[in-house]
Amino acid sequence: MARPKGMQLQNTPISEIKPNPNNPRVIKDDKFEKLVRSIKEFPKMLEIRPIVVNDDMIVLGGNMRLKACKAAGLKEVPVIKASELTEEEQRQFIIKDNVSGGEWDWDMLANEWDSEQLKEWGLDISADWGKEEGEEAPKKIKLSDRFIIPPFSVLDTRGGEWQDRKRYWLSLGIESELGRDSQSIKFSKMAEDLAWAGQKTGISIFDPVVCELAYQWFNIPKGKILDPFAGGSVRGIVASKLGFEYLGNDLRTEQIVANRINAKEVLKESELYPSWTSGDSLNIDIIANGYNADLIFSCPPYADLEVYSDLKEDISNMPYKDFISVYREIIRKSCALLKEDRFAVFVVGDVRDTKGFYHNFVSDTINAFLQCELKLYNEMILVNAIGAKAIGANGYMKTRKVGKVHQNVLVFYKGNPNKIKDNYPELDLSYLKEENEK
Ligand SMILES: C[S@@+](CC[C@H](N)C(=O)[O-])C[C@H]1O[C@@H](n2cnc3c(N)ncnc32)[C@H](O)[C@@H]1O
Repeated sequence: MARPKGMQLQNTPISEIKPNPNNPRVIKDDKFEKLVRSIKEFPKMLEIRPIVVNDDMIVLGGNMRLKACKAAGLKEVPVIKASELTEEEQRQFIIKDNVSGGEWDWDMLANEWDSEQLKEWGLDISADWGKEEGEEAPKKIKLSDRFIIPPFSVLDTRGGEWQDRKRYWLSLGIESELGRDSQSIKFSKMAEDLAWAGQKTGISIFDPVVCELAYQWFNIPKGKILDPFAGGSVRGIVASKLGFEYLGNDLRTEQIVANRINAKEVLKESELYPSWTSGDSLNIDIIANGYNADLIFSCPPYADLEVYSDLKEDISNMPYKDFISVYREIIRKSCALLKEDRFAVFVVGDVRDTKGFYHNFVSDTINAFLQCELKLYNEMILVNAIGAKAIGANGYMKTRKVGKVHQNVLVFYKGNPNKIKDNYPELDLSYLKEENEK
C-alpha cells in the first residue's frame, strides 16, 4: 500500500523540525549516546524509520531520534509529514508509535545474537548476561535446556515448562500427600479465615520441580542431601531418581512409613533408595551423626499455618516464640552436619499471627542461618497459582490483606565462595534427553 501522496519522505533541514513539547518519552544518557552512535553508523535507518511530523513540523514520532540527529551533527533528515491525521489521531500516534506490543524472547536473543552487539545497539541487558568474565558466549541452547528452568530470582510454577516438569514427576506416582491425613491436620485460625484451606485437600504438596532445581543447581554431583523436616516422600524420591543420597528426618512416624511405601511403589530395585528416619530433629546431630551433608534442603512448618500433629515436640503446634527458638536450634545442628563450601536451601513462607500481622518468619529463617556463619547467597520468589485464593479475595480485602501466592526459596552458602566454580561444574542434564527418548 503506497504512502498517501501527502505523506512522502522529504529530506528536511533539521532546524525546521520542532521537538514535541508534550513528548511523554525520555532517554537515559548511555542510551542516548548509543542512539547517536547508531545514527552515525547506520544513517539509512532514518530513511526506513523517518521522523514523523505534523503540518506545523512538530514531531509526532521520533523525538529522541531528532535529538540524536542534532547531536550527531546532521544538517538534514528524512521526515514524513502526516498531514492527514486529525488532532485525536496525532495524540494516538504519539503513544502508539512507542508502544511495542511484543516482548523479547530472551532465549532467541541469547541464541541468535551476540550479547555485546545487542548491548551496543542499546538493548537493556545486564553486563554478565549470557557469559562469565573472559568466558566464551554460551553455545546455542535454550536457558531451560541448560538449567531446566531459566535461572532467575522469580520461579514461576504456572509456566508451561514448569508444569510439564511437574507433570513428569507426578506421573512417576509420587504421592507426597500420603502420611498427612487431612482430618488430623489443623490449620491456624488465620489460615482458615484466609480460605487458605480452600484447596481441595487443604494439604500443601511440596513441588517436585523445586526439589529438582535445588538438587541440580546447589548440590555437587552425587552429593548427599540432609532434610531435617522431611514431610512427604517427594524430596526423597526426586533425590533418588536423580542419583543423590538423601536422608530425611520427620517427627511423625506415620509420615515416614507412608514415604517408604510410596518410594517402594515409585523406585526400581536398581535405584538408590532414600533414607527416612523419624524423631525430633532437635536431635538431628544424634539422628544423623557423621552424615556430612553436601546439601541441606528442606521446607519447615510455616509456624502454625499447618499443625501436623499434637506431639509436644512438633514445632508447628508451638507458640511462635517457642517455635522459632527450637527451629533455630534445629537449623544450627543441621548446619553443623553440612560440609564446608556447600549450600543450604530452605523453602519458607511468611505466616500471620492471630492479629493478622506477619511473624517475619522469612527474616527469622535468614537470621537463623546467618547465626551459623552461613551467608545468604540467593533468594528467589516461588510464584504459585492463585487457584482457590481468588475465592477468598473479597473476604480478606475487607481487612486489606492481599492473598499470598508466593513462597521464598532461600539459598545459603557455608565456606569460601571462590570454591563454588570448582565444586559445581556445568550441569549434566543428559537425563532429560533420556526421559524424552523413553
Ligand atoms: C510437611 S513439612 C513442611 C511442609 C511445608 N510447610 C509445606 O507447605 O510443604 C513439615 C514437617 O515438619 C515435621 N516436624 C514438625 N516438628 C518437627 C520436629 N521437631 N522434628 C522433625 N520434624 C518436625 C512435621 O511432622 C511435618 O511433616
